[in-house]
Amino acid sequence: MRDELKDGSSLSSASCLAVSRVALLCCLMLACVPEGFAGAEPGGGAASLARVATAKGKSPSRAAARLSPQRRRVAQSKKPARKPDVIFVPTPTETVEEMLRLAALKEGDVLYDLGSGDGRIPITAAERHAGVRAVGIEIDPELIKVAEEGARRAGVSDRVRFRQEDLFRADFREATVVTLYLSDRLNVLLRPKLLRELRPGTRIISHDFRMGVWKPEQTVRVPWKSLYRTVYVWTVPKGRRIGR
Ligand SMILES: C[S@@+](CC[C@H](N)C(=O)[O-])C[C@H]1O[C@@H](n2cnc3c(N)ncnc32)[C@H](O)[C@@H]1O
Repeated sequence: MRDELKDGSSLSSASCLAVSRVALLCCLMLACVPEGFAGAEPGGGAASLARVATAKGKSPSRAAARLSPQRRRVAQSKKPARKPDVIFVPTPTETVEEMLRLAALKEGDVLYDLGSGDGRIPITAAERHAGVRAVGIEIDPELIKVAEEGARRAGVSDRVRFRQEDLFRADFREATVVTLYLSDRLNVLLRPKLLRELRPGTRIISHDFRMGVWKPEQTVRVPWKSLYRTVYVWTVPKGRRIGR
């Protein structure tokens, strides 16, 4: 009943049997785990597939190629990379108009709306200003669809693009105008990226929220119902250092 081990310890046959059963069970369980399961996480999709593949030292495309077509579609579906930092609340039309007036758009300008919602700011910018391109960065894929449909109906799809991305990771260096309707906290978190990546002279227009210690050069109140909305304007300074 007892087998002597090399180091002098012993293991009963019953224990050996139990150990091999557990090992067999583990192998069976691993074999049953669905392909791609390791990539499942809230908002997983292509990004998590890439992370899993990279963690295993394989290229994401090779990992995707091994998935069945159906699982590949699920893995690559555009789910939000993560929960939005703020919910969608649209900027009222008059405030959109005022933000665009303050942006002083001219031919060749490229407007980026960071957190573009239903796309009203980029769409209106392209509708009103020939020669202007506009890009909306939005994390929610459903809102991207709404915005794309809006651009199509407005006949500006050739000059407006919507990208499903996290605004904190997005490349918006080509912008000459940036519009925001986020929150005081998000604006402050975003400020270093804006100052680092935008070219000096780029105008930043924010609906209702400030930029912490970076003082706006213009503050405009827009009547709204019996209240008002506030629009703030900054220009990225040469040297990218903010005056306080
Ligand atoms: C208050 S709404 C503003 C919508 C639009 N800019 C407007 O003024 O009508 C903010 C938008 O930001 C989006 N959002 C929140 N966090 C985000 C993130 N990290 N990256 C991209 N979009 C985000 C939300 O889904 C929402 O549509």
